[in-house]
Amino acid sequence: MTIDILTLFPKMFSGPFSESIIKRAIEKGLVSINIHNLRDWATDRHKTADEKPYGGGAGMVMRVDIIDKALSTLKSKVKSQKSKVILLTPAGKLFNQKMAKTLSSYSNLLLICGHYEGVDERVRKLVDEEISIGDYVLTGGELAAMVIVDAVVRLIPGVVGKKESLKSESFSFTPSLPHSFTLLEYPQYTRPFEYNGMKVPKILLSGNHKKIAEWRAEQAIKRTKKRRPDLLKKI
Ligand code: 6GU
Repeated sequence: MTIDILTLFPKMFSGPFSESIIKRAIEKGLVSINIHNLRDWATDRHKTADEKPYGGGAGMVMRVDIIDKALSTLKSKVKSQKSKVILLTPAGKLFNQKMAKTLSSYSNLLLICGHYEGVDERVRKLVDEEISIGDYVLTGGELAAMVIVDAVVRLIPGVVGKKESLKSESFSFTPSLPHSFTLLEYPQYTRPFEYNGMKVPKILLSGNHKKIAEWRAEQAIKRTKKRRPDLLKKI
């Protein structure tokens, strides 16, 4: 997979993709992530990519002509059929695990990080999809792009080591249950066995894998019922 990110703030991306699982995915050649500065497509000597809004008002609006030029350059390098251009905006469709799964099957994603004040309305005609990561306002789409890249890249086959660790997690599949549930994760423990009087549940030391799986499923359901009854209602 190739992910191109178009932003006015490329330096914001220097951290999250150079650590841990995403870093390893890049090193293994499973994904390549390219950060592009939108200003590189600006033509005036000030390298202007955003302007004051017509009709007045606060903030700056990202220019459609500059974004269109950038998209043309980046799209011309994309050979594959399965590609998608996504605008990150609080007005977009709410991101979830199902969307992450769908996007992980694409071979090219092009993410445009919008200013929170906005992008020119005509940009919406240039993109395939608009995505938001939640009902709150960020200063720009950059952090949202990082969240989406993280959620999508870890679903690319081979990125997360053991297949099992993807199966049983929150918002995904609980293997020992009859349906493909969308549940919160079950409690996990590691050493020490006892800490400040708090002990690890005995069942986890029993060696009975069937019983352990049942206990975990039960815990996941209980936790979901208590914390996210809205998820349970969907089942
Ligand atoms: Cl994608 N962008 C901005 N600016 N704010 C957001 C968002 C995106 N998703 C949630 N809040």
